[in-house]
Amino acid sequence: MSGKLYGLGLGPGDPDLVTLKAHRILQNVPVIAWPAPDTGASFARSIAAPHLPGGQVEIPIVVPMRTERFPARDVYDRASDEIAAQLDEGRDVAVLCEGDPFFYGSFMYLFERLAHRYRTEVVPGVSSMMAAASVVGRPLAARNDVLSVLPGPLPDVALRDRLNLADAAAIIKVGRHFARIRALIEEMGLTDRAIYVERVSLYAEKRMPLAEVSEGSAPYFSMILIYKGGEDWIHALPGSQT
Ligand SMILES: C[S@@+](CC[C@H](N)C(=O)[O-])C[C@H]1O[C@@H](n2cnc3c(N)ncnc32)[C@H](O)[C@@H]1O
Repeated sequence: MSGKLYGLGLGPGDPDLVTLKAHRILQNVPVIAWPAPDTGASFARSIAAPHLPGGQVEIPIVVPMRTERFPARDVYDRASDEIAAQLDEGRDVAVLCEGDPFFYGSFMYLFERLAHRYRTEVVPGVSSMMAAASVVGRPLAARNDVLSVLPGPLPDVALRDRLNLADAAAIIKVGRHFARIRALIEEMGLTDRAIYVERVSLYAEKRMPLAEVSEGSAPYFSMILIYKGGEDWIHALPGSQT
């Protein structure tokens, strides 16, 4: 019998935010696969590290970050072949995913290649957007507020239209687009409603009103939360450490 494929959500970074279910799977699965940039370590593997018993087979999936052609099809074709070989041998494989696997996660490229051929289970994880709201100390949205998730690489015209319509927004994948997005938020008069967060739940976490960010750039693991809905939450709630 073939092995089972897991898309394993591991949460935003703090190993204590790994679910009991993901923990149980990490303790028992004989094979793990994890994404990594071509320069640097795998974030997903670092979240799982304290929970791994050791001795498991590991399949790194190295995704070039500077490719013109994303998703890098060849990389995912090769990785799915390697994973399929393990599944064919009857071994379960857990693909480690930061946050939640189906929330802008690269796991979907393996899912579309493998899920129709093998038993597959997606284990949800705490998404970075939820973790960001909790450390900012301001609810994301309430009542009939419309919450929009906006990828930072969208052009200004699309970001402006969506921000105009939304009551609340989370701008993800800010990274190298930070200066442009910040200028747009300023131009729209939303700076005093925007909170910047970086590396949420990790030791290096930063969170502050966007107006107080002194750097002109941001790391990949950052996002901006904006609230312009009906509640009185322009700033973080009293008691938050923002
Ligand atoms: C490709 S998306 C993956 C989202 C992930 N699947 C999730 O559920 O959180 C990557 C983006 O998520 C956000 N992100 C992920 N982890 C984060 C963290 N610990 N702190 C801040 N932002 C994070 C950043 O905006 C980053 O650019």
